[in-house]
Order: sequence, then C-alpha cells, then structure tokens
Amino acid sequence: MYSNPNLDKLVSYPFERLNKLLNTVNTNNNVNHIALSIGEPKHAPPQIVLDFLSEHEKLKKLLSAYPSTKGGLELRQAICSWIQARFAVTLDAENEILPVNGTREALFSFAQSLLSGRPKSLVVMPNPFYQIYEGAALLAGASPYYCSSYETDDYQQDFDSIKPNIWKDTELVYICSPANPTGKSLTDKELASLIELAHQYDFYIASDECYSEIYLKTEKRPTSILTVSDRMGNKNHERCVAFHSLSKRSNLPGLRSGFAAGDKNLLEQYFLYRTYHGCAMAGHVQEMSLLAWSDESHVIENRKRYKEKFNSVEAILSDSYSINTPEGGFYHWIKTPIDDQEFSALLMEEFNVKVMPGSFLSREQSKKNPGSNHIRVAWVSELTECQEAANRLVEFAKRF
Ligand SMILES: Cc1ncc(COP(=O)(O)O)c(C=O)c1O
Repeated sequence: MYSNPNLDKLVSYPFERLNKLLNTVNTNNNVNHIALSIGEPKHAPPQIVLDFLSEHEKLKKLLSAYPSTKGGLELRQAICSWIQARFAVTLDAENEILPVNGTREALFSFAQSLLSGRPKSLVVMPNPFYQIYEGAALLAGASPYYCSSYETDDYQQDFDSIKPNIWKDTELVYICSPANPTGKSLTDKELASLIELAHQYDFYIASDECYSEIYLKTEKRPTSILTVSDRMGNKNHERCVAFHSLSKRSNLPGLRSGFAAGDKNLLEQYFLYRTYHGCAMAGHVQEMSLLAWSDESHVIENRKRYKEKFNSVEAILSDSYSINTPEGGFYHWIKTPIDDQEFSALLMEEFNVKVMPGSFLSREQSKKNPGSNHIRVAWVSELTECQEAANRLVEFAKRF
C-alpha cells in the first residue's frame, strides 16, 4: 500500500490526546459536566443570518448551481467594506480577497499552495499554537520552527531570538494575533519588523486574525497585519495575507466561513490551487456570510457578553490563580501548581470540569516546553455555567 510519508509526522490532535488522558479517569458524576476545553462559541448566531434559511426560493436557486471558487463580487465587496471600516485598509475586491470555508482549511491549504517542498524549507510558527500550522507545514514537506512564548517574557514571542540561518531557510511564518491560547497580541512594532524580515529573507506571512473581534478594551482593539503593512508603505501588502473568520466574530462555527486578504500575487497562486482543490464556498453560505460581514450590531453584543463573563470569572479566580486578562480571544492561559496533565485529570475526576492541558498545545524546544504547567480555559458557555466552573476551579485550588 502506498502512503504519504509526511502523514507519519503528524502529532495527534489535542482533543484526541485529551480524550485519551481522561479515558481512565473516574469522573465525579454527582455534579454536571462543564467543558472548557474547546474554543467552540456557544452564544447564539445572528438572527439576520438564521432568517436567510427560511428564504426557500433563494436557497433553491443557490443550491441548484455550482458556486465559483472566487466567490461572488457582492460578498467580496462586503468583506472589503468591513476591512475598510475595521482596519482602515482599502483593498481591491477583484484580486485581494478570497472567501474560504473557515480559517482552519485556509491556513492549511495556503501552505500547500505556496511552499516549495525543497528539503530545508522551514515554517516559523508560535508555540503554544493552533496545531493546524504544524500539520500544514509537515504535509507540505517543510519543517516547523517554533518561536515560543514563555511566562518569563510575559508570553510575548521572541522573534529576535531567531538566527539569520533560520530566517534564510524560512518560506512562511504563521502568526496568531490575538493568540490562541495565550491571548497576547503582537505589537505594531513587532508586526512591522516581521514584514521587514519577510522582505529581507524572502518569506511570506500568514496572519491568523480570527480572534480580532473578541476583545475587552475598545481602546486596545487588536490590529491587522494589513493596517501595519499599509502604514509602513508596503501598499500592495506584499508577502502578507490576513485570515479572518465568522466562527468567533459572529458565533457561526458551523457555517464554515472566512476570508483570506492581502498580497494579490500570493492570492493568485492560492486561487489557482483552490480551483483544483475544489473548495468553493457554497452559494447559500456566501449569502449568509455577506449578511454577517455587513452587520456590526451582533458583534458588539457578542463582545459585551464576553466582557461580562471575563469580569465575573476573573473576580472569582484571581485570589486562587495568577490571571492574565487576554488582549483578545476567549481563553485564559493559566499557570498550574502541578503538572498540567495531572491537574486536568484530577480536575475532571473531582469536579467534572474539562480543560485543555497546555502541553497538548505546545512542543518542547531546547529542553523547555512553554505549555507545561499551564492550562487553556475557554469561556464559551453561558455566564452562569462559567461562574460555576470558576467556583469549582477555586475549590480545586484549595488542595494545593
Ligand atoms: C487560532 C485559530 N485559528 C483558526 C481557527 C479555525 O477557525 P475556523 O476554521 O472556524 O475559522 C481556530 C479555531 O479554534 C483557532 O483557534
């Protein structure tokens, strides 16, 4: 039997590893189960999008036709208007935007369309990270290079530590800002110096910005690589592509909708790849996405609900844990008093609360693992359930 040898390099997905870890745990079923392990938004999707599903005549027409890989012009224009309003960047709807079926498939396929496959090709990525970056690099025949975030650096990535010989072999850099799981954003200065390095060493930047709309402080809204690139005069966004999603912004993880925006030459190549990959966004998904990108009121309401939750759980947790309020996203990245896997298993056993061990989201580098002794907590459930989970975490902390 033939098999792609790169498949053997893939590491099991964090959720699989978590299921395995918890398989043997004797869970306390006297209390209800609370899952804080997965970043799946639970707030209701916007009504304007749901209403579209009852427009049967429109649906019938859309379902009877093949959609185009490029997406309808109206959708691309709506995305451009959103980018203009949110990030003060003007893009050309014709060749600087591509609709994608969620950022997960896009971040993965982008690497397949761009990486050369030459033996020494490197892909720089955060650590801890969203594991798709690693799988995308490995399946494209490249090797991951981890740029870690440690507590000692306030969880900021240290790009300065990357040596020229590494940059020379780098073809692609994934960044995630605001980051899953640390909640940290890259500063404008960091983004600008990364763009300069991309020009100097001839690599591309895939900027995962899917959490940009979940922030707690309006005066510190997360920025986009496209804004920074514009400001520094990299007007065609050469080497930069930003990825956005409706999953977190609009509570539509099941819709599978997002977009890639930026460097038109990279997007041209990516578009060619996508025509063969066969991943055109379905017509009705395009229509629903257009409605979602054109409305901001539900996004404001969504943020309000996260803010209320964060204020509440932080007040509960702060005497028992060292809490860093995220700059964006809906996670807490919390230090644990014992090994993170042991902590997660015991928490499940005693309190029926599921969290993600940090070491499942990270890799060891230079004998250090930035995820050990950390957990990721996703505050996606309703307020009262989150408060209940926070109270159980406090109760659990008393045993240490
Ligand atoms: C950092 C990050 N990027 C991308 C995604 C993928 O989101 P989607 O494919 O729903 O747009 C996720 C989902 O959890 C994520 O955490």
